[in-house]
Amino acid sequence: MAGAIPETEFDRRLGAKPPVHLAVEGLRVVYQSRRGPVAAVDGVSFEVRPGMVLGLVGESGCGKSTVVKALMRLLPDSARVGGRVLLDGRDILAMDARALRRVRWNQIALITQSAMNALDPVIRVGDQIVESIRAHEEVGRATAWARAETLFALVGLPPGRLEDYPHQFSGGMRQRAVIAMALSLNAGLLLADEPTTALDPIMQDQIMARIRRIKEVLHRSMILVTHDVGLVAENCDSVAVMYAGRIVESGPASEVLVRPSHPYTIGLHNAFPRMPAEGERRPPLISIAGALPDLLAPPAGCRFAPRCPFATDRCRAEDPALRPAAPGQAAACHHAAQAGEFRRLGALPETWKAMAEAVR
Ligand SMILES: Nc1ncnc2c1ncn2[C@@H]1O[C@H](COP(=O)(O)OP(=O)(O)OP(=O)(O)O)[C@@H](O)[C@H]1O
Ligand code: SF4
Ligand SMILES: [Mg+2]
Repeated sequence: MAGAIPETEFDRRLGAKPPVHLAVEGLRVVYQSRRGPVAAVDGVSFEVRPGMVLGLVGESGCGKSTVVKALMRLLPDSARVGGRVLLDGRDILAMDARALRRVRWNQIALITQSAMNALDPVIRVGDQIVESIRAHEEVGRATAWARAETLFALVGLPPGRLEDYPHQFSGGMRQRAVIAMALSLNAGLLLADEPTTALDPIMQDQIMARIRRIKEVLHRSMILVTHDVGLVAENCDSVAVMYAGRIVESGPASEVLVRPSHPYTIGLHNAFPRMPAEGERRPPLISIAGALPDLLAPPAGCRFAPRCPFATDRCRAEDPALRPAAPGQAAACHHAAQAGEFRRLGALPETWKAMAEAVR
């Protein structure tokens, strides 16, 4: 039965490896598009400490999946990739094919939103997990099956369902099965790219609760990619906010999401307000007007300036670097020293409405 295994047993049964340290330094990815080269990721650096969860957040098209694919070396051959991706000190980007085979899925595993495509429709789910384990490790079928049962219990599926085919599962169950499969090789770093986006809100909550247990029970290092600030607040230790291929703010999730220093983070925060406490009025939902800049010709100066209600002439001329803004926090904003005032004004719908009129 799901949940019948004592939590302290998971580590032993799965033979968990220690969590890893990830340091990404100056990552740059340039795609070749029909209109020309697109720098989808433009000098991104961050760190995931062992056993910690980093939230990578930003709106659609800002480069989140490109970062994740670069970490797994899953980008198209035509993409030019620069910088370093150090997994416990070893640069994944510099590895030859053999070394990469040993690292991919064994040390770093990926969960995406397209659960349907990750499972073979004509093979029983349990056999798929067992095959995946045995393709990478010299273990017998019975041992691999026992591990699959443990993983199913961990993601909240009855181990008996290992006998089923993917079409016998609901969408949420399939996504759990995919998570179990991604965990089956005990990688020390788990990348979850919008793992719940395709699911309904109740299922989203259940899957995220399972992912939280995985962090608590297995102490994996993790990157959670999402456009939902609420998910970051609930699940992440630290956060990196991306805008147009860059990180514009980073730091402990509890600080960045409560006291953001960058106007874009303030705007994102408004677009995903927290649930109000009892008796409190629901804060207004305010969206940031305009769209991400065209990466073929990004604006001079700050890339957020065309949508920023606080932009000055300096912002439109000078590109801001990511600099310390508050203890443990960094922001790429010339005026981060005025963040307190920005937060006050940023909470008012008029501030963003005026900007919306200007953008129009
Ligand atoms: N194979 C590709 N060739 C050319 N451009 C690409 C390719 N893949 C992505 N891009 C472009 O790179 C930019 C970043 O895309 P990416 O998928 O990384 O964004 P994302 O933040 O994951 O967005 P979403 O939230 O929608 O998943 C976008 O402008 C996108 O159009
Ligand atoms: S640098 Fe200027 S335009 Fe960019 S976010 Fe800061 S205030 Fe806004
Ligand atoms: Mg994506």
